[in-house]
Amino acid sequence: MSIGTHITLADLEADPDPILARLRAEEPVAWVPAMEMWLVTRWDDVVYMEDHPDLFSAATEPSFLGRALGQNMLTCDPPKHTRLQAIMQPPFQPGGRSGTFAANELGMMADQLLDAVDPTGFELMTDYAQPLSAGALATVLGLDAYGFDRMWSWCEGLCADLANFENDPELTAIGEQTKADLGVAIADRIASAGDDDSAISWFVLEGAASEEIVNNVRLMISGGINEPRDGIGMVTWVLLTRPDLKAQIDAAPAKLRRLIEEVFRVYSPVGTITRQATRDLELGGSRIMAGELVSGVLRSINLDESHWTNPQEIDLDRREGTHAAFALGTHRCLGEWLGRQEVRVGVERLFAHFPELSLEPGQQIEIHGFEFRGPRSVRVRG
Ligand code: HEM
Repeated sequence: MSIGTHITLADLEADPDPILARLRAEEPVAWVPAMEMWLVTRWDDVVYMEDHPDLFSAATEPSFLGRALGQNMLTCDPPKHTRLQAIMQPPFQPGGRSGTFAANELGMMADQLLDAVDPTGFELMTDYAQPLSAGALATVLGLDAYGFDRMWSWCEGLCADLANFENDPELTAIGEQTKADLGVAIADRIASAGDDDSAISWFVLEGAASEEIVNNVRLMISGGINEPRDGIGMVTWVLLTRPDLKAQIDAAPAKLRRLIEEVFRVYSPVGTITRQATRDLELGGSRIMAGELVSGVLRSINLDESHWTNPQEIDLDRREGTHAAFALGTHRCLGEWLGRQEVRVGVERLFAHFPELSLEPGQQIEIHGFEFRGPRSVRVRG
């Protein structure tokens, strides 16, 4: 019997790595009945998926993303996607609003949050990483007037509905309430759009329709806050538990960038990309039928032994090319540059503020999740 037959999402949530390693070795393209999709776990096969959006469509049916957020850039293929990407990308690049924000405001935002924590003991994720991540995206989008907490509650509400695989009416209601509240804020922002350099003003200037702006801003909020937050949490946790790596960064601070890339590779905050086969095809020795859902497991290919030397090791001198934590193809992360700045500046400011930062003793830090992976809680002392 195939390995895939025994796999459940709960197993993957609890401890994905041994399952993914076995799939890579024995059944690299595996049908998982419990998830009603194929899992693709080897580097070369996921690269093939990413190189062929005509065979592996992002416009899946059913689509939880489309149902919860409305049609957006991650639920469509080229050429529709190409137009949206051209409109949406510039504010998230160094030459756009993200560039001025990272240069002039991000460090200050981090310092203000750190000034407010209790140095005798604070929870890194909720007291620092989360508001920093929410505040950064709010500012770049031009929604900062609503406050970081409101931004976070929008993110939580959208994500609750996104993960509502069993159509729980309570979660649907939370999603609807969030969309209504956020919708008013975006509509106001569109109505007052000017030459303020914010991302939403840019989208208006570029001629995006209101519905396109609303749906894609929902996508950005649901996907662009948790990951930098988890990145800050994981890089900090690694530095606090690996004195050897901390010593290397202290000796050569510029190497923090390499550490961040390695942490993204080894822990992959976003686990998968989900696509739908547009016709019958063969991949990695398995026969996939038109209409079946296919999940490229980024977490697995970032640890693929056939692509990386000692993949589980965080190696600051690794020179083996790009990892896949931001994906590799048409839908490669739009907020990649901004996200990296948030993690780098967030961690730099944290250790500048608290050079003696340490984990509160006695806690078990759990890096949890499959689709979205990160620490639940990291209690620290300044
Ligand atoms: C820093 C950590 C981040 C990680 C690890 C990450 C990861 C990813 C991945 C793997 C994808 C591809 C999804 C797929 O193909 O199905 C993606 C797409 C996307 N990400 Fe991120 N992301 C991060 C930060 C952000 C931020 C800060 C934003 C803010 C705007 C953002 C917005 C998006 C959008 C809009 C897409 C869809 C792009 C498209 O369809 O062309 N992400 N991200």
